[in-house]
Amino acid sequence: MVVVAVTGKGGTGKTVISALLIHFISKRGLNLLAVDADPDSNLPDALGVADEVTKTLGEIREVFQVSRDEMGTTDKEQWLEGKIYGEAICECDNFDLLVMGRPEGEGCYCYTNNLLKGVLRKLMRHYDVVVIDSEAGLEHFSRGTISGADYIIVVTDMSQKGLATAKRIKELSKELNLKFKDIFLIGNRITNSEAEEVIKRFADEEGLKLLELLPYDEKIAELDLRGEPVINLPEDSEYTRKVKNIVDVLINLVEAAV
Ligand SMILES: Nc1ncnc2c1ncn2[C@@H]1O[C@H](COP(=O)(O)OP(=O)(O)O)[C@@H](O)[C@H]1O
Ligand SMILES: [Mg+2]
Repeated sequence: MVVVAVTGKGGTGKTVISALLIHFISKRGLNLLAVDADPDSNLPDALGVADEVTKTLGEIREVFQVSRDEMGTTDKEQWLEGKIYGEAICECDNFDLLVMGRPEGEGCYCYTNNLLKGVLRKLMRHYDVVVIDSEAGLEHFSRGTISGADYIIVVTDMSQKGLATAKRIKELSKELNLKFKDIFLIGNRITNSEAEEVIKRFADEEGLKLLELLPYDEKIAELDLRGEPVINLPEDSEYTRKVKNIVDVLINLVEAAV
């Protein structure tokens, strides 16, 4: 099992790229779990499966948090496992999807979160690959899902802010001693060769592996405007072709891991 987390500044294209990676990797026959880890959840829409999501992990966590003391001798881990498998995992056509939902409320969630961590770890083992669409901030780096990722993909746009976030993510993973096997960079929504050069140089200087430079694509904006899932992007576009190159790289990593 290989866990890939897609991160970066807000609005750089994490969800667009996550959705397309999930779409094409699962189409290649890998057993895939998609995780929407952004509280401002929009991966289901990007994948065109919003109607299929019933419960979020956050909702189940809340129910557990308020009723755990009354559960008596119930095996709590088993209870959580049953709820998550039964109600939160959405079985879509070619992949499964788990939406994390809102973060926890007031109070101490240590016990709950510890149990959840174990259940999630067990759950992920059922898959060849787990793709996580992360939230924009960096606080989540120290906890939960991301800290266990094998590979981090940082998405940046042409802005200095996007690059600064990429740099911070790299530093943070060192500070927190997170054991990623690799940190990759993707440039997205690129419109000119100067930006390409800037991002290439940045990747070199920071020792990040540049996976691809993805262009601005009018069709993505169009689909977004019409409220259509981004996975409807034409198969023959430059954007799709380049995303498929990334898919090849990731599938190689998955195959090397087994
Ligand atoms: N390559 C691209 N070309 C045109 N529009 C894009 C491109 N990538 C992303 N977008 C648009 O930019 C916005 C932000 O993308 P999104 O994937 O939601 O970012 P994030 O998940 O990082 O916040 C969306 O409206 C999306 O449709
Ligand atoms: Mg997003």
